[in-house]
Amino acid sequence: MLLNGLFAPLNPPVNEWRDQRVWLVGASSGIGAALARELARRGARIAVSARREQSLHDVLDEVGGSPNQRPVDALVLPLDVTNAGALAAARDAIVAAWGGVDVVVWLAALWVPMRADNFDLAAARRTIEINQIGALNLLAAVLPVLLDQGRGQLVLTASVAGWGGMPKALAYGQTKAALNHLAETLWIDLHPRGIGVSVVNPGFVDTPATATNTFTMPALISADEAAIRILAGISAGQFNIHFPRRFTGVLKFLRLLPIRCWFAVIRRTTGM
Ligand SMILES: NC(=O)c1ccc[n+]([C@@H]2O[C@H](COP(=O)([O-])OP(=O)(O)OC[C@H]3O[C@@H](n4cnc5c(N)ncnc54)[C@H](OP(=O)(O)O)[C@@H]3O)[C@@H](O)[C@H]2O)c1
Repeated sequence: MLLNGLFAPLNPPVNEWRDQRVWLVGASSGIGAALARELARRGARIAVSARREQSLHDVLDEVGGSPNQRPVDALVLPLDVTNAGALAAARDAIVAAWGGVDVVVWLAALWVPMRADNFDLAAARRTIEINQIGALNLLAAVLPVLLDQGRGQLVLTASVAGWGGMPKALAYGQTKAALNHLAETLWIDLHPRGIGVSVVNPGFVDTPATATNTFTMPALISADEAAIRILAGISAGQFNIHFPRRFTGVLKFLRLLPIRCWFAVIRRTTGM
């Protein structure tokens, strides 16, 4: 009995994506755009949000290869996640169009490489405002709907940079650590109410955000592969969806050891 509990999915599995109503917040490029394309291919109903409206349209046009083939009832809801009212208005538009929402995926983020010798307070504040407060703005918008439905899934995209100290992640890393904590706390509150909560911790993914990185990115994967891993994790009812395992598995193991092991490996492998 106890062993069964240890291996049971932590969230209600999603067995079929067709007709699932999915809201992607941060879908104009990178992993979010790849998720939109993959979900549309699988027949899900998608709402896409980010600031760049034309890019959101372009993402939908890419699904079928031509504007005429884009998903018929896809919703384009441009917004800035630092504006709580805009997220609430987009939520209202989704509920009006679909009557509810099944899966909400948080992807929006700002990545500004920063170390102690180029600390930039304004950029650090902006990073927190988007990555962390933005996620809270989304929560404020969707929690009432999910609680009222008594079902649905909330997926927060964090990063392995939130698992421990890493070079250049001075502002970004702490926001991703906060999202991991937020997801755990939400799971405790929402699981008994029938609502799934998961946190996505990717390693390095080839996207516009990482295109300017000047350091070697180990185990780099494509955004399309990341999207497939995320959907597989949600489908399986996983709480902590991390990939690629050949990279994230090593980091997870290191976290079990004394912190000096983490410091030593991170310094040696990054040369920083
Ligand atoms: N790529 C990686 O290696 C990697 C690794 C670990 C975690 N992640 C995480 O994965 C997620 C997706 O990242 P990505 O690599 O795909 O980066 P990306 O291509 O830069 O995508 C970021 C998305 O966030 C949106 N966004 C940023 N600020 C926003 C704002 N104020 N309001 C609304 N939307 C905003 C962007 O759209 P607009 O600019 O149009 O607003 C864009 O759609 C992020 O949470 C990132 O931290 C990525």
